[in-house]
Amino acid sequence: MILLRHALCWPLDAVVSFSLNARQQKPSSIGGLSGSWVGKAAAAAAAGVGGRGGRSQAKMLPNLSLTEEQRDKLRQWNSLDWYIYKAFNQTFWEEIDKFGRAQMEQEEEVALLRMRREDLARVCLRDGGKPVEAHRIRDKNIRPFQSGLVKILGYELQPRLDNATKTACLRMIRPEIQYKDVLDVKQFPRAPAPAPAAQPQPGQQNQPVMVAAGGSF
Ligand SMILES: *[C@@H]1O[C@H](CO)[C@@H](O)[C@H](O)[C@H]1NC(C)=O
Ligand SMILES: *[C@@H]1O[C@H](CO)[C@@H](O)[C@H](O)[C@H]1NC(C)=O
Ligand SMILES: *[C@@H]1O[C@H](CO)[C@@H](O)[C@H](O)[C@H]1NC(C)=O
Repeated sequence: MILLRHALCWPLDAVVSFSLNARQQKPSSIGGLSGSWVGKAAAAAAAGVGGRGGRSQAKMLPNLSLTEEQRDKLRQWNSLDWYIYKAFNQTFWEEIDKFGRAQMEQEEEVALLRMRREDLARVCLRDGGKPVEAHRIRDKNIRPFQSGLVKILGYELQPRLDNATKTACLRMIRPEIQYKDVLDVKQFPRAPAPAPAAQPQPGQQNQPVMVAAGGSF
């Protein structure tokens, strides 16, 4: 973020962000971060997918941490991703060196960014910025899309923000699908209403939409 901001001459606030789409970690973690969702998925599968049995079963699961051999296999299966990752990891560190690690630390760029993020979390987010499960987010428009067995977390905004603050905060936590909708409206503003003859009747509108959705999922 700091490299980006210097490359584009942006102010600090342009690159402050909150982590979106956090995966829910199980409270009793087995095998560290990466093991926990695998554990949960396996537990849910053992319990017949979904259902409330998942969590209690997870406690009895064997060690699901990846072995070095499994890591290698995963890198082979995802070799293109892995090449891209390695290429960008390399240029990333080259850029850091060009920028100067000392400047990154002595000028306190990283510390400033973190401080600003904490300030904004206090202003914008409930519960000190702790991500929450989607169903707990009262404003349905900012619930993150769920897929698979692991819960994708989102944020709740502080209540009673003034409009300008709310707009700024919302921009930082809006999930990507809703964000895309906002961009769509901006990029393709709705054309003025067409002639009445061309307009579908309200009752007819649902059917083709459902077919389209069914087809694409
Ligand atoms: C779990 O498995 C990993 C990889 O095989 C190993 O490194 C780790 O020590 C194991 N942990 C426990 C608690 O047995
Ligand atoms: C990314 O690059 C750094 C610097 O070259 C290196 O230390 C690190 O191991 C790399 N990370 C991975 C996952 O390869
Ligand atoms: C703030 O937003 C509310 C709801 O969208 C609107 O009714 C109100 O007029 C706005 N106030 C200002 C000062 O823009």
